[in-house]
Amino acid sequence: MNTYARQSVAFVRGEGVWLWDEAGKKYLDALAGIAVNTLGYGHPRLKNALLERVNSGVLHTSNLWRIPDQEKAADRVAEITGLDEIFFCNSGLEANEAAIKVARKYGHDRGVAEPAIIVMEKAFHGRSLATLSATGSRKVQAGFEPLVSGFVRVPLNDLEAIRQVAEHNKNVVAVFVEPIQGEGGINVSRLEYLRGLKEICERKEWLFMSDEVQCGLGRTGKWFVYQHAGFLPDVVPLAKGLASGVPVGACVVGGRARGVFKPGNHGSTFGGNPLAMTAVVATIDAIKEEGLLGNASRVGEVIRQGLARLPGVSEVRGMGLMLGVELAQPCGELVRQALDAGLVINVTSENVIRLLPPLVMTEAEGALVVERLAPLIRAFAERATPATAAAR
Ligand SMILES: Cc1ncc(COP(=O)(O)O)c(C=O)c1O
Repeated sequence: MNTYARQSVAFVRGEGVWLWDEAGKKYLDALAGIAVNTLGYGHPRLKNALLERVNSGVLHTSNLWRIPDQEKAADRVAEITGLDEIFFCNSGLEANEAAIKVARKYGHDRGVAEPAIIVMEKAFHGRSLATLSATGSRKVQAGFEPLVSGFVRVPLNDLEAIRQVAEHNKNVVAVFVEPIQGEGGINVSRLEYLRGLKEICERKEWLFMSDEVQCGLGRTGKWFVYQHAGFLPDVVPLAKGLASGVPVGACVVGGRARGVFKPGNHGSTFGGNPLAMTAVVATIDAIKEEGLLGNASRVGEVIRQGLARLPGVSEVRGMGLMLGVELAQPCGELVRQALDAGLVINVTSENVIRLLPPLVMTEAEGALVVERLAPLIRAFAERATPATAAAR
């Protein structure tokens, strides 16, 4: 189906933060397959673990049997999240679909017949019917109505809006927040806002659900954004960077959401298969042993400092290696220009350059991202300025 407006480049080989196309041209990757390739390309630990898995002959067995690597992966995920029940699936939308089901079941268990979930404007949660209904973008929803009901939408970073809903809607059972909105333009939740939200959740006995599919897994300098705010959510959907390129998702729960799902409430044929679980264990172990959390903070700062004061840049937002560079004009053309300059980036929300490099990027490579991107931004600003002046 014609669902993607693709660039014609095809990457056929990778090493570290570098990619090569079919013609042998080399690119510096500042996108990591949209926050997926945590360990970059050809990471020895991941490669060897996967080779061993393939050589064992067992890629899939099904959840009818014990899966030792799933148990290991669950232990790792429990340790880094601070939560203790995990459902493995295969993608971000599946993790979020599970989270939405947990919230509804939590509501029904408490006698709420029509449970509602508070969601945020500009959030992205996926493209299944339930997750696109939770998503705060008309572009994603248009043409797929009727939407799934049971979502109440408020602006991000607006505690008063939450208080209003709390006062008037007795059906609310959960708040679902993407603490740094990725697709929506790298919109960062203030930490006091997250804490305030958590407080309201405690008081109202709502679930706090933190969609860390894009921002989680070390990208912001801590394992998860909620750890910057200093509390534990009840539900944390994960995917993308969790297995460094092997498809996987996880819905992680604790607190009030513990024990909500019982046998028969949810399932997945592929979820938690030995291949993906091997990659989860290798990814988490490598992040830990190679100090990639601290690295994400340091390299992110190099890039932020390098781009913040350029002409035409309204703002650089984000944390660690999840950065959005907002320009005054729509700047989609920069993706092609960056490719020509040997750099892989993305533009989201029309005028935000999105940078999500592999966490193994070094400070020198971060400086090289700046070196390649800054001239493109400068030239873009020079071209855009007369048009802006004329428009006024
Ligand atoms: C925050 C967030 N949630 C959910 C999803 C959906 O993940 P997937 O594309 O794996 O279904 C995405 C994907 O971009 C995302 O960024």
